Amino acid sequence: MALNQSKTQAAFHRAQELMPYGVSSNFRYWDEVQTPVIARGEGAYVWDMDGNRFIDYRLAFGPVILGHADKRVTARVVEALANGNLFAHTHPLELKVAERMIRMCPGVEKVRYANSGTEATMHALRVARAHTNREKVIKFEGNYHGFHDYLLFSTASTPAGSLGSRRSPLSAQNTSGIPAAMRDLVINVVYNNFEGLERTVKAKWGEVAAIIVEPVAGNFASVMPEKGWLELIRKLCDEHGIVMIIDEVKTGFRIAKGGATPEIRSALRPWRKASNRGSRDNSPRT
Ligand SMILES: Cc1ncc(COP(=O)(O)O)c(C=O)c1O
Repeated sequence: MALNQSKTQAAFHRAQELMPYGVSSNFRYWDEVQTPVIARGEGAYVWDMDGNRFIDYRLAFGPVILGHADKRVTARVVEALANGNLFAHTHPLELKVAERMIRMCPGVEKVRYANSGTEATMHALRVARAHTNREKVIKFEGNYHGFHDYLLFSTASTPAGSLGSRRSPLSAQNTSGIPAAMRDLVINVVYNNFEGLERTVKAKWGEVAAIIVEPVAGNFASVMPEKGWLELIRKLCDEHGIVMIIDEVKTGFRIAKGGATPEIRSALRPWRKASNRGSRDNSPRT
């Protein structure tokens, strides 16, 4: 039986008059008929404006890991809001959350908060460039790191046939509007291609600031890293002074309590020990 979605469709048509495609992100646009307008959620379910109930496999693209309207989360949010909702200062909750994240995640020593994953990877890349005084970044085909111009190349939604050969992958902008000059800064390698990565790093390491990777490729069919893949990236980065950026926007706190990095704990441990001994120069530039 066809669903009655008359209110939902009317709202979507009105949304199209007010917002591009009628959505606040292109990823939310499904098509002219099925793009949902969701009025509420509870647990694993969401309801559209006509009261039709659906299982929500998206869960806000990941973060709602306890389900919608979890009573414990709601109570804590309401409690916090009663004391103000935005400050231009540090808040004690930031410390509490940072302490917990550092305790849970083996590769994390310090925390900088960001408003989105896009912002986080953009800043991580900038820090890597500043640290290494190099400009290029190696990313992997199919991995997605947000919508800024630096990394929106060769993701899973790049048009088929635009990625070149496996031996010499091309970096293809995902959309118009990304400057061609950006392409020169992105080197694409096929995920899990050990030989391709080693060859690329050997040839180009002097220009490479960072290798950025999804530890589980959640953005293309959740391809798992082959045994030794993340360890190889860690090793190549150590050998060539390249910053390894592990993008856990999808995997963090979902795959396991400490994210996907416990899987490569052994590869991370030597680095953490070295930094605990204070061997890195953290002094500010004067
Ligand atoms: C691995 C990964 N990195 C970064 C991002 C960008 O995050 P945001 O949508 O919060 O900007 C996403 C979003 O899906 C992601 O999956």
